[in-house]
Amino acid sequence: MATVPAFGLRRLNSRQWLHTFRPPPSPSLSHSVSCSASPSSLEESEEDTLSNAATTTVTTNPNNYSKTKSFFPKRGQTLELVCETLAFKGKGVCKTADSGFVLMCDRALPGERFLGRVTRKKGSYAEVTKLKTITPHMDAVEAPCEYAPHCGGCKAQNLLYEAQVRLKEQQVHELVVHVGKFSSKDPEFISIMKPIVPCDIQFNYRNKMEFSFGDKKWVPKELLQEQREGADDYALGLHAPGFFDRVLNVDKCLLQSEPANRVLAAIQDYWRDPQLGLSPYNCHSHLGFLKHLMLRTGRDVRTGLPELMVNFVTSSYKPELLKPLVEKCVAIPEVVSIMNNVNTSVGNTSVGEEEYTLYGKSTITEILRGLTFQISANSFFQTNTHQAEVLYRIIEECACLKGDDSEIVLDLFCGTGTIGLTLAKRVRHVYGYEVVPQAISDARRNAKLNGICNASFVQGDLNKIDDNFGKGFPKPDIVISDPNRPGMHIKLIKYLLKLKAARIIYVSCNPATCARDIDYLCHGVTEKNIEGCYRLRSLQPVDMFPHTPHTECVCLLELVDSRLLSSFHPYIQLLRFSSQFSPLL
Ligand SMILES: C[S@@+](CC[C@H](N)C(=O)[O-])C[C@H]1O[C@@H](n2cnc3c(N)ncnc32)[C@H](O)[C@@H]1O
Repeated sequence: MATVPAFGLRRLNSRQWLHTFRPPPSPSLSHSVSCSASPSSLEESEEDTLSNAATTTVTTNPNNYSKTKSFFPKRGQTLELVCETLAFKGKGVCKTADSGFVLMCDRALPGERFLGRVTRKKGSYAEVTKLKTITPHMDAVEAPCEYAPHCGGCKAQNLLYEAQVRLKEQQVHELVVHVGKFSSKDPEFISIMKPIVPCDIQFNYRNKMEFSFGDKKWVPKELLQEQREGADDYALGLHAPGFFDRVLNVDKCLLQSEPANRVLAAIQDYWRDPQLGLSPYNCHSHLGFLKHLMLRTGRDVRTGLPELMVNFVTSSYKPELLKPLVEKCVAIPEVVSIMNNVNTSVGNTSVGEEEYTLYGKSTITEILRGLTFQISANSFFQTNTHQAEVLYRIIEECACLKGDDSEIVLDLFCGTGTIGLTLAKRVRHVYGYEVVPQAISDARRNAKLNGICNASFVQGDLNKIDDNFGKGFPKPDIVISDPNRPGMHIKLIKYLLKLKAARIIYVSCNPATCARDIDYLCHGVTEKNIEGCYRLRSLQPVDMFPHTPHTECVCLLELVDSRLLSSFHPYIQLLRFSSQFSPLL
C-alpha cells in the first residue's frame, strides 16, 4: 500500500472517473431521457429518425441513479438529453437518468437540452450526435466565425468566453478530484486550486496555423446541394472533424493573425487557376503536389511589428511550380520567409525530409520574457505568444528561485528550450531534455543568441530512460516537466520519485493526464508498489486557447520528506540567512 503523505490532501478510493462523474451542481439541470422505441439505422436522414421516434420519457432524480433499473442505449436510438459538463476534448457529458450511463456528445454545452442520436457504443459509454437543440445553454452566443459549426478547431465559439473559462476551471477541478484523487473537502483544497487565468486576447492569438490541401472538399450536409464536382472540389482549409481525407475550405481563420489571413486569402484566390498546373495531394492515391500550407507569425525584434513565414509542404521538389504563389506572398510586406518542406512519405505530417528556402530568411523571430527566439518551420514554439508570457511568469513564480546562481534546473520536454532559457540567468545551470533533434539544435542556437552559456540541451526519448539517466547532470533543485498530451511515462515518474528534487513544476496541456501524474507523484501507484513523496502546493489552470477545449495547468509539487528544507519553511529562511555568514551552510 502506498504511503499517503500525512499533510497532503486526503486520498480517495481509486475509481474510474467516467463512471463516477458527479451529478451536476445545479438543480436546474433535470435529467430527462427520451428513448426512441425503434432504433433507426445510422444511414437514415435526421428527419426520418426523428419522425419515426416513438418516445418514452424516463425522468429520475439525478442525485439518485437507480442501481436496479438499467438503461443502456442502442446504436441509432434518439434520446432527449441534458448535457451536464464538458469532458476532455470538449465533448459534452450526459447521463441517462435511470442508470447513469454516460453519453458523450460533440458540441453539446452544459445545461443544453437537446435531441441526440447514439452513433457508437464504446464499452462504458456511448457517443451521440446532436440533432437539434431544445433549450440552449444560458450563455450561448452567436459564433463570430462562419465555419465554427463545422470546423473542428473552435468548438466553443458559441459560448460566452466567461462561461468557457468557468467550464474549463470546473473540468480541471473534477479531474483533480476524480482522477487525481484529491479531496475537495480538504480545507487546503481551495487554496491549492487557483482560479483559471483567462486569456485577454480571444481572437488572432495563434502564431501558427497549418492548413491542408485536398481534392475532396468537405461540405456540411445542409449545403450539399451546392457542391459540384471538378476543380471546384479542391479545398484549402482545415480537416473536417473525424475525416483525415476531407478538407473544409476556409478563406479566413479568426484565430490567426491578420497578415496571416491576408496570405491565406491571396493563395486561396490563385492556387486553383488551371494555368498554374497545381494539384492537391490525394492521401488515398498518393498523387498530387500540394500537401499543406503552414503560416507562422513572429515579431521583428527591432520594430516589434509582425513578420511572417509561409511554408509550403509538397510531395516533391518543384520550385518552378510554386513560383507564382511565392510571388503572390512576397507582395505582402510582412512576409519575410518562404519555405518549402518536401515530404515524399505517404503520411500526413508537414515535416519534410528536405527543406528549401524559396524567399528571404529560413527563420522568423519572436520575443518571450525579454529573450529573442529564432523559429524555424518545424520548431516547436508556444502557439499563443501573448499567453505564453503569462504562463512562463507563473512557472517562474512557482520556481521561487533564490536568484543567487546556486540552483540546478532540469527542464524535461524542453522543446526549443524556452522555459529553461527564461530561467537561466538566475540559476547555476539548466539541463534540457527533448526527443526532437531539430528542437535541440534550436535550443542551443537560442541560448547562444541570448548570450546564455549555462544551459545544456540533450536529445533523448524520455519514455525510454534507463538507470543511466541522470548521470549526466548534478541533482536538480527544480524539475520542470512539460510533456505533451499523453503525460509522463511511468519510468519517468519512478525516476522523479527516486530523484527527490525539492520542487517539481508540472506544466500540462492535458488536465486528465496531469491529474493522473500528480496522483502518482503525491499518492504513489499502489499496484506497482510505488510510494508518492510530493505534496501538491498549487494548481493553476491557464487558458492558452480560447474557444477550444484545451486547458493548460501549472502544478507546483513540493517534496514531502524534505519539507524542512523547503524554501517555504521559516526554519530554512533562517538557515539561508545564516549561510551568508557561514560557508558551511
Ligand atoms: C508541450 S511541448 C513543451 C515544449 C517546451 N517546454 C515549451 O514550453 O516550449 C512538449 C515537448 O515534448 C517533446 N516530447 C514529446 N515526447 C517526448 C519524449 N518521449 N521524450 C522527450 N521529449 C518528448 C515534444 O517534442 C515537445 O517539444
